[in-house]
Amino acid sequence: MQTLSTDLLDFSGRHVFVAGGSSGINLAIAEAFARRGARVSIASRSAERVAGALAQLRAHGHGAEGYSADVRDYEAIDAALGAACERFGIIDVLVSGAAGNFVAPALGMSSKGFRTVVDIDLVGGFNVLRAAHAHLRRPGASVINISAPQAINPTAYQAHVCAAKAGLDMLTRVLAMEWGPDGIRVNSIVPGPIGNTEGVRRLAPGDGALEAMAASIPLRRFGTTAEVADMAMVLSSPLASFVTGAVIPVDGGSSLHGGRDLGTALKT
Ligand code: NAP
Ligand code: COA
Repeated sequence: MQTLSTDLLDFSGRHVFVAGGSSGINLAIAEAFARRGARVSIASRSAERVAGALAQLRAHGHGAEGYSADVRDYEAIDAALGAACERFGIIDVLVSGAAGNFVAPALGMSSKGFRTVVDIDLVGGFNVLRAAHAHLRRPGASVINISAPQAINPTAYQAHVCAAKAGLDMLTRVLAMEWGPDGIRVNSIVPGPIGNTEGVRRLAPGDGALEAMAASIPLRRFGTTAEVADMAMVLSSPLASFVTGAVIPVDGGSSLHGGRDLGTALKT
């Protein structure tokens, strides 16, 4: 058995690209790699948010660049990836985590509302991976899709996210097969409810909702963005060199629950 050594989590000189990396869990992942020596590129829609995140990332002193791009726009994300690789070279770690969510019953969302989330979470994820492929180190690249428990547990009031993230995890498995022969590993991380994030704020609005959500988690607490970032680093290290096509919950056991009815949770 290998001993967990900090050297195996040294990403000095590596290039890590994080799509959707300007806030929350994705920014924490970018920052964890920056802290361990990586050159980091991020992309998201808001130039202002990207600039704020870059200030944080550059403080680690290993180089960081940011791009304003919408993952729904293939040309824009392709251009961002190209520019990032001109700056920092071939990509060692690609994290695809851009996502959107709102709480609504299927009959409370228009076709466009449903499609908007599928376009960001699923088609956007395809765009990022498809455009990045030419820039990935082979052999050796680690590709990580950021999924969600809705991919595993049917969740009322989340039809769009359930469909999109379940599709994303299947994309993980298919691309692990297609890109495995080139030595590119593709995995999904499924974060559970993570404290102080936009995702949880949207799912648990109102008095008492946060406490009820935390109480429903087998480990009886929210996860931290650092705990998700730790899994991203382990997956991108030699410790996970034979792991591909895996869908890995980092969720305190939340995905063991089965289905959930957010609509009822919101009314109580
Ligand atoms: P967040 O802070 O809102 O992060 C979403 C990021 O994606 C932002 O940086 C946002 O920046 C970017 N983004 C959104 N739409 C985009 C688009 N069309 N193109 C490019 N970038 C886009 O949310 P979070 O809660 O940390 O969630 C991060 C990831 O974790 C998501 O994939 C989410 O599904 C997953 N997740 C979260 C939780 C949780 O507990 N929070 C649980 C399970 C899974 P811009 O607004 O600048 O575009
Ligand atoms: N209930 C029902 N429909 C909703 C809705 C809600 N709460 N919020 C948005 N929609 C619908 C809109 O009505 C619109 O459809 P319509 O024109 O037929 O009415 C469609 O979704 C698109 O909305 P729009 O605001 O134009 O989309 P956008 O691309 O600007 O933003 C969102 C995408 C809606 C997902 C937005 O919330 C977002 O940018 N989220 C990113 C941050 C986030 O969600 N973080 C958590 C990640 S887990």
